[in-house]
Amino acid sequence: AIERTLSIIKPDATRRNLTGAINAKFEAAGLRIVAQKRIRLTKEQAGRFYAVHKERPFYDELCEFMASGPVVVQVLEGENAIAKNREVMGATDPAEAAEGTIRKEFALSKGENSVHGSDAPETAAQEIAFFFSELEIVG
Ligand code: CMP
Repeated sequence: AIERTLSIIKPDATRRNLTGAINAKFEAAGLRIVAQKRIRLTKEQAGRFYAVHKERPFYDELCEFMASGPVVVQVLEGENAIAKNREVMGATDPAEAAEGTIRKEFALSKGENSVHGSDAPETAAQEIAFFFSELEIVG
């Protein structure tokens, strides 16, 4: 089925001028960027976005990092977009990511791992609604 997923190009990647290189990977995989904006999150906003991780030991560091520079938030659309995006991103830890994936090529560590992608249809819907109104998504 055609799905939409929420993607974030993280501060470690925007800092290194990798937005276009990462978008090229999405497009080469058949994902369409149907909404996109560059924003700067406050630590509080990052904390709300990652609320499911509140109890994890890395939560504070994660929120601090996500607020440390610009992020590019985007909606990717395509056949099986959620799984396809996760495949293109590669494993959370770049040391475990497959050859040719974004995290293998660009991520610096488990925390500074260049991209975020929704993990399921319900979270995709929630995460898209966190950043975008329906009017901003143009398929
Ligand atoms: P993401 O897909 O954005 O969702 C939660 C994030 O937590 C994850 O990617 C990682 O960047 C981050 N994360 C997971 N494990 C660790 C860790 N051990 N230390 C720091 N950050 C982590």
